[in-house]
Amino acid sequence: MTFRRAPYYYPWIAALLLLTAGCGSARRDEPTGPPVFLPSRPAVLGEEVFMHRCNQCHPRGEAGLGPALNNKPLPGFMIKFQVRHGFGAMPAFSEKELSDFDLNNVVAYLKTLRHSG
Ligand code: HEC
Repeated sequence: MTFRRAPYYYPWIAALLLLTAGCGSARRDEPTGPPVFLPSRPAVLGEEVFMHRCNQCHPRGEAGLGPALNNKPLPGFMIKFQVRHGFGAMPAFSEKELSDFDLNNVVAYLKTLRHSG
């Protein structure tokens, strides 16, 4: 009768698997800084666009070179008009520079910045 032995390393593999199974840490890093409440996906995407295109003049929606955007309930179409046509020192953004999709998201983001009062 031939006795087929499992290769000698099988127990080692089994031991390794057992060891590593216990090591996978489920702990994730704590988030740093205060949480920023951004309710919708458009607002999250809009923040990204805003930071690239608008933030240098309207820092986080506050007044900078441009006026504050977070202290008045500007309707979406007014924001879009301002962005598409520019006014005074504000440059106009064509659809090539800023797609309608991006602009809609920026508007959603700006609405999340509004103060009450
Ligand atoms: C180069 C600086 C600059 C950039 C970049 C810029 N703005 Fe402006 N923005 C201004 C200035 C200056 C004004 C005031 C224009 C005026 O009334 O003479 C303004 C005005 C506005 C207003 C009207 C505010 C009001 O009180 O009526 C809105 C809305 C606005 N900007 C949104 C945006 C958005 C959205 C972006 C990014 C897509 C952007 N701006 C990028 C300078 C800038």
